[in-house]
Amino acid sequence: MPSTSVIGMVWGDEAKARVVDIFAEKTDIVVRYQGGSNAGHTVIVGDEKFVFHLVPSGVLRPGKLCVIGNGVVVDPELLIEEVEGLEARGIEVYKQLVISDRAHMVMPYHKVLDAATENSLGSGKVGTTLRGIGPCYRDKAGRSGIRAAQLVDPDSLRVLLARNLEHVNKLLTRIYDREPLEFEPMYEKLCKLGRKMKPLLKDTVQLLNDALKNGKRVLFEGAQGCMLDIDFGTYPYLTSSNTTAGGICTGSGVPPKMVGEITGVLKAYATRVGEGPFPTEVFGPAGDEIREKGAEYGATTGRPRRCGWLDGVVARYAATVNGVDNLAITKLDVLSGQKAVKVCVAYEHDGTRYDTVPGDYRALEACKPVYEELPGWCEDISAARRLSELPRAAQDYLDYLERLVGARIGLVSVGSERDQVIHV
Ligand code: IMO
Ligand code: MG
Repeated sequence: MPSTSVIGMVWGDEAKARVVDIFAEKTDIVVRYQGGSNAGHTVIVGDEKFVFHLVPSGVLRPGKLCVIGNGVVVDPELLIEEVEGLEARGIEVYKQLVISDRAHMVMPYHKVLDAATENSLGSGKVGTTLRGIGPCYRDKAGRSGIRAAQLVDPDSLRVLLARNLEHVNKLLTRIYDREPLEFEPMYEKLCKLGRKMKPLLKDTVQLLNDALKNGKRVLFEGAQGCMLDIDFGTYPYLTSSNTTAGGICTGSGVPPKMVGEITGVLKAYATRVGEGPFPTEVFGPAGDEIREKGAEYGATTGRPRRCGWLDGVVARYAATVNGVDNLAITKLDVLSGQKAVKVCVAYEHDGTRYDTVPGDYRALEACKPVYEELPGWCEDISAARRLSELPRAAQDYLDYLERLVGARIGLVSVGSERDQVIHV
């Protein structure tokens, strides 16, 4: 039985976890397949707020198996902190979670290198989450990474850590003008974390393929979004993994033909955190208003998110690259009270109109958005549970988005509570 997937269509923070939480109810296994603790996935259940960085959001559904696939870069310290924090809140993470023995580990030095690299870039910095993501994927591609199976084996860890630290310390002292890092305390700490992680490790490639063969329902939880994809995003202002649908296969070991329906998550407006082009960004009080109403502050770093109008060019591009079957439109309620709602339908530069996202971020930076304006609505829509209960203007906005993106809407969220959702 093919799987289903939930993927971000823009610059992350589309409220993917909200959608995963809903879908997880009718799923057996929830899988993270890329990214790391740069993700901040928020789910509200009653009075409780959960923010996940590494553990799949599906863990909130008792009995569901959660998998951290080989494509995820795992910070063992943050992982154990997150697992123990959830256990303390009564969630049986140790029973529900397994981690691929092939997953790469974010080492303490990766975080130091992340900060050093960002610092050395000055005004050209990416604005990373400083979680060591880029340096860890760099080591993975450079074949000097440390995988989970090696972290939990003290002898392997000793050899690899000593080798890597020697190189890292040369970089830190000779290039970045920083203090070298000490081997022994780092090794001791990692061994301790390794002992806690060991029972969670599994051959998740076999596990997932067996599960699919046996008719289990598998849900893939994307992190970040299409425009942060290392290949398809606004390079170099993006993250270091394939956030788009292709990443599902390489990050989990599930073959392409077993990847079924793809739900693309599209927020009713746009946000971006960190540096890089954002054609539909709205500055000043109008942008601030969206930020406050939508509580658009980073779940991982607390940074205020840049806010703006929905970018239809980006949404169409994401639908193409990911093969989006259904759209989940999130945070529609945040737009209530806008006199008019704008949507970017094309870009314009030097008198030429562009209908696609340019490959060069500098070209995108130079583009001005071409907007179409739709009537807004002032009603509070958070109690709507059917499309027909929405004001006409909100229904028209959704119809317009379907036509613009070329995909059907399957779900609309109108609030952060579990039941504040319209199933179409
Ligand atoms: P979720 O899964 C929004 C951004 C960072 C920065 C760039 C690179 O919650 O949607 P990194 O630390 O990955 O090297 O930073 O990517 N970024 C995100 N933005 N949501 C995320 O995750 C993000 N993860 C990384 O702000 O611009
Ligand atoms: Mg987030």
